[in-house]
This record gives sequence, C-alpha cells and structure tokens, in this order.
Amino acid sequence: MRVYKYKDYDEVSKAAANFVIREIIKKPNMILGLATGTSPIGLYKNLIKAYENEIISFKEVKTFNLDEYVGIDKNHPQSYYSFMHQYLFDHIDILPENINIPSNDENNVEELAEQYNKKMFGNQRDLQILGIGKNAHIGFNEPGSQLGSQTFIVKLDEQTRIDNSRFFNSLDEVPKLAITMGIRNIMYSKKILLIASGESKAEAVFKMVYGEVTDDVPASILQLHPDITIMVDEAAASKLKMDSNQLIF
Ligand code: GLP
Repeated sequence: MRVYKYKDYDEVSKAAANFVIREIIKKPNMILGLATGTSPIGLYKNLIKAYENEIISFKEVKTFNLDEYVGIDKNHPQSYYSFMHQYLFDHIDILPENINIPSNDENNVEELAEQYNKKMFGNQRDLQILGIGKNAHIGFNEPGSQLGSQTFIVKLDEQTRIDNSRFFNSLDEVPKLAITMGIRNIMYSKKILLIASGESKAEAVFKMVYGEVTDDVPASILQLHPDITIMVDEAAASKLKMDSNQLIF
C-alpha cells in the first residue's frame, strides 16, 4: 500500500487528478473505473481543466462506474447517471458509447447486474478510482458483503442512507437498494486509487490500512491488492501514525 497525505481536500483532488492524468497520457485508450460521492468531485474538476487545456483527451477512454441506486429513475437528479454527467461527462470529449453505468430498471435489475458483470470481465480496468464510506464501504459493498462478490443488488446500510440523505429532501427519499460492482470486480482492476478527506473518514481509513482483512471492513481487502495508492487529507489521516507525508509498505 502507498498512502500519501495532503493538506486538505483541494490538495488531494489535485494530486489524484495528476495521477489519473499520467495514466491517461501513458495509455490514451485506458479503461477507467469511476466513483461518485463528494470525494471525487474535485478530482473530476481538475480532469476537466486538463481536458480544456488539451493535456488529455477522453476520446478513446472507456469508463465503468461502480454503482447506481435502484428505485429512482436514471434521470433523477441524485442518480449516479445524473451525477456523472453533471460533474464529468458533459464537460469532456468522451464518446457516449464508451460510458458504462449500471442500469437500474427495477423490473429486471438482477439480469442487468449479470450483464454488467460479464461486460466488466471483458474490460479489465487499468485504473479504478474509489472513495470510502464512513463504514468503510467501497462502491456500495456494505460491511458484511462477501469479499468474493461480483456485481449484485445490495440493501443499503442505514448509516449509508443517513450519510447520503444530505443529497435528498428527506431520509425517506433515499433509495433502499443499489446495484454495485462486487469486491471481486473492484480487485480485478490493475491499479486502484482511493481518495478520502475529512475527520469523518479517519476511522475507516485507519481500519482499511491497519485493521485485519475482514468483510466487516470492506475496504480492508485493498491491503491484498498489488497496486493500491491511497490519497488522504490531514483530517482523514489523523488516526494513522505517519511521521512523514507518505507511508509505503
Ligand atoms: C457513496 C458511494 C461510494 C462513495 C461513498 C463516500 O455512497 N456509493 O462510492 O465512495 O459513499 O461518499 P463521499 O465521497 O460523498 O463521502
């Protein structure tokens, strides 16, 4: 694991974007795994800037998103489909046919999960971007999710629904189900970049880095990935004993 500490959210966003930019320059037709949530918004802003400055192009990049809510329309303002268009896709030159986000049609969501899963095995991600939940979930793999899981329909933790209710009018409106890549799919990426900021993530970050590998702490499985980079701000790193700004082991 390589853990890098930065002053604040903006610094994490810049460093994470530079990391992704380097990967796109190295392989312009890369397959990129994308995350939603507040954590990657700054990273996406910096990617858009790099695109506008003609440093990178997304013309040949293919993307796969981690997850999507089930129970709201894909055009709902809080769907991850809407999120991705608002914060990234509408501002870059990615081709619509290269965008993959799990479909969430309630009527055949199990079948859609299977299709998404199959497609991912033919499209190994070169890099997967991840955030982390307060309960150490990755994607929507909640505590207790099997470490060998593949794309599935998950019942969201009450904690996750409460955390995400800030984006909805009320807790009642927050979907109870989601479709998510499984941990096995996430681990199948060649490289992983996880970003976290804020005090509320400190405990999850600590357990991910130093805790035992257990399905109670889904992010702890990342200790077993051969190429994982973690970028955190000072607040999220506050429980890690770091003498310098990096921790490599
Ligand atoms: C969400 C997403 C995760 C994300 C996490 C943290 O529910 N499903 O992919 O990493 O929760 O979100 P945030 O970055 O807003 O703290």
